[in-house]
Amino acid sequence: MLNKKTKKTVSFLASGRGSNFKAVADKIISGNIKATPGILICDKPDAAAFEKAAKLGIDSIFIDPKAFASKADYEKEMIKHFDRYKTDYIVAAGYMRILSDEIIQHYKNRIINIHPSLLPAFQGRDAQNQAIEYGVKITGCTTHFIDEGTDTGPIILQRAINVNKKDTVHTLADRILKEEHKILVKSIKLLCDGKIEVRGRHVIIH
Ligand code: GAR
Repeated sequence: MLNKKTKKTVSFLASGRGSNFKAVADKIISGNIKATPGILICDKPDAAAFEKAAKLGIDSIFIDPKAFASKADYEKEMIKHFDRYKTDYIVAAGYMRILSDEIIQHYKNRIINIHPSLLPAFQGRDAQNQAIEYGVKITGCTTHFIDEGTDTGPIILQRAINVNKKDTVHTLADRILKEEHKILVKSIKLLCDGKIEVRGRHVIIH
């Protein structure tokens, strides 16, 4: 049984709705993921994720990227807050900015992203729309550690989803989102249980 001291602290980055944040935070609070919630940082003042954090009793803060002279200064501020909460892992839960080397190095292999495609296909924004436009029959979602590239880091878990003839970007995104929640929760649980090892590009699950 883990006691409080051996529990990992999980913090979050989000830009919007925050359903992935909520999926993980719910499991931490219910004790399903053995971790302590840290802080949620958003780059948008009106992110719906704030409301979800308040309901769950998780601290949150808006950090305005425009208030800093450089991205490095903005990220230094983020690091200050994450460190204040003794953050072990950061979940990028719908965080729509590219992180720079500074924060990636500071938390090497400790920032986990959820992406709505089967990487390395459809990196970047609007991955669900990219899948529809391309005409793929299968897409999905991926959790991975963030590295210096865009959606290129070591892959933790993936789940495939069929693209149906009648799918719109909305129906497809909804189906993918349900699976995102599942693989993100599972990934963070594995991490917090010490079951994940990163060897170069390869994530070994013990
Ligand atoms: C999710 O579909 C997530 O995979 C995607 O944004 C959505 C956020 O939803 N992230 C990216 O596209 C990152 N490149 P949420 O705010 O409800 O979690």
